[in-house]
Amino acid sequence: MNIEHLFIKALKGEKVERPPVWMMRQAGRYLPEYIELRNKYDFFTRVQTPELACEITIQPVDHIGVDAAILFSDILVIPQAMGLEVQLLEHKGPFLPKTINTQKDIDALIVGEDAVASLDYVSKAIKLIKKELNDRVPLIGFAGAPFTILCYMVEGKGSKTFDKAKQFCFSQPELAHQLLNKITDVTITYLHEQVNAGADVIQVFDSWSGMLAPKDFNQFSLPYLNKISDSLSARVPVILFPKGSWYALEELSKSSAAAIGIDWCITPKLARALTQNNKTLQGNFDPCKLLLSIPQIQQEVKEMIDAFGVDRYIANLGHGILPNIPVENAKAFVDAVKNYKSL
Ligand code: CP3
Repeated sequence: MNIEHLFIKALKGEKVERPPVWMMRQAGRYLPEYIELRNKYDFFTRVQTPELACEITIQPVDHIGVDAAILFSDILVIPQAMGLEVQLLEHKGPFLPKTINTQKDIDALIVGEDAVASLDYVSKAIKLIKKELNDRVPLIGFAGAPFTILCYMVEGKGSKTFDKAKQFCFSQPELAHQLLNKITDVTITYLHEQVNAGADVIQVFDSWSGMLAPKDFNQFSLPYLNKISDSLSARVPVILFPKGSWYALEELSKSSAAAIGIDWCITPKLARALTQNNKTLQGNFDPCKLLLSIPQIQQEVKEMIDAFGVDRYIANLGHGILPNIPVENAKAFVDAVKNYKSL
């Protein structure tokens, strides 16, 4: 990278003229240009075809003007690479016909280079994206956190409670740790491949960690987040996003990660206090507030930045953008950050 991008400066904790802005799940979902491709190709074709993944990744940069691109892919490519079938059912979400329950199931998982080699299409997509982006904005690579991937591998689908996955962790912790270790090892190799191909930043999505009590988070999530962050942080800035685990912010502020993502269930003031003002924070606009009028969105964005402060801050949503958000409202959110004035 020739010029220092705002996004990278904010991750390094350098002074910025305004916070950078991007939106989780910005690639896909609500953009009409995406819906067109969605009607033509099934989900994993979109993910596995570098030209399509490249086009979808760049759409929000071209149409919304975000300060970072995020690779179009999915966290469930890791269970796929480890040998589990993953289907995406219309209106139902992910479905894994064969789940993990026993030692035998864990032993049968594909690990190491064999697993990562099957994700070669991701490196090809990243190389193409970097060429097409031509350094307009940095590219975020990503993976799911080991605990969230375990949730899908054991439960086999999304769930309001993930009770099977949690029962597996609590009643068979030894097996759970074996599984978490295998997922972590494959994820680390996979993320290094993303960096080798050109990813400038890595984000780890722990979408379901907030379902855990603090002591269980410390056992089943945190050590694996730290292992990934420690391995990658020497090469690129890492953003950890353990959604709902605001109780762990103090502990997370000691991690090697450059930034921590937070959802809207914590005030900026408390998040700053818990991270002793020494970490870049990312978030935390309630995605449902993008359904408000544009003047209301502008007001809410101003209040959010006033509360976080301009430095050590990345404006974002507190979780993924919803499919029913009007494009003008998403753009109004991004523009409001770009036009921020403290007075
Ligand atoms: O951020 C981006 O836009 C990049 C692409 C991306 C997708 N999934 C594309 C996708 C990213 C970063 C993800 C992460 C992901 N996937 C998470 C973590 C983030 C979060 O939201 O908590 C999780 C839990 C998944 C698992 C998953 N994949 C679910 C639950 C679903 C079903 C519905 C949905 O949209 O959430 C998917 C499918 C999926 N992944 C779609 C997209 C654009 C929808 C496919 C479609 O309807 O065309």
